[in-house]
Amino acid sequence: MRKVCIIGGSGKLGRYLIAHCLERGYDVTAVCRPESVGKLADLADRIAVVPGRTDDREVVARAVTGCDGVLVVLVPFGVRGYSSGTARAVLDHAEPGARLVFSCGWHITRDGRDRYTRRFRLMVRAMTVAARAIRFADIDDQVRACELIFASDAAWTVVRGSDLAEGPSEGLPVWARHVGDPVLASNLTMRTDYALFMVAALTDDDLVHEAPAIVGRGTPSARAHAEAA
Ligand SMILES: NC(=O)c1ccc[n+]([C@@H]2O[C@H](COP(=O)([O-])OP(=O)(O)OC[C@H]3O[C@@H](n4cnc5c(N)ncnc54)[C@H](OP(=O)(O)O)[C@@H]3O)[C@@H](O)[C@H]2O)c1
Repeated sequence: MRKVCIIGGSGKLGRYLIAHCLERGYDVTAVCRPESVGKLADLADRIAVVPGRTDDREVVARAVTGCDGVLVVLVPFGVRGYSSGTARAVLDHAEPGARLVFSCGWHITRDGRDRYTRRFRLMVRAMTVAARAIRFADIDDQVRACELIFASDAAWTVVRGSDLAEGPSEGLPVWARHVGDPVLASNLTMRTDYALFMVAALTDDDLVHEAPAIVGRGTPSARAHAEAA
């Protein structure tokens, strides 16, 4: 891995993605909304910044040129297909063979075999309806975005995050193929470790065409799983 593009680099997760990539010596280009360019000012001499919305096909095409890895913070803001537009732009314009790693939450299911609690399902449905009613976000569009990714032949990984918290690293998160696996019981990952997992996925061929649901190593169940692996 030499050159990595981070689509959505100025947010909380994006900043961690940039930091982990720089630590590995990767050449980093970050796309962020024009109004957020100032949030990356402290990194201006270490990364290239391409201002633009992450669903702007021309912006994405320019930013991913020459990149062998693309990390995508997939967010569903607004009600005009922001997530699916972002996913489509990356899938259409990334270099052939590039590793593509997308973020989303546990609510995304690839094969319908995830086991959700009734409380979780109700919460996701309530958030979907409320966010759409005020035109704040369209969570169903993040679902559509992931369907596009799952149907693609590109070398993708969709990393499904648990609840997130700020704090010191607990190391590389553990993962399961399906929500409901006992290893995921704590439903908590440090945001820096979520980014760590996404960056590690760039060079982990075992994660190609996987949608790992991840959780931090901070709980006894996750620690036991990590030690047994
Ligand atoms: N938060 C959680 O508990 C949680 C749990 C599981 C998974 N995830 C996943 O983690 C990823 C990052 O989520 P996060 O909550 O941690 O947030 P985050 O890292 O702060 O990222 C939010 C991103 O959305 C952009 N954004 C904010 N408002 C926007 C708008 N109105 N229009 C377009 N873009 C906008 C931000 O860009 P600017 O810098 O330009 O504002 C930033 O790139 C997402 O894929 C999410 O599905 C989050």
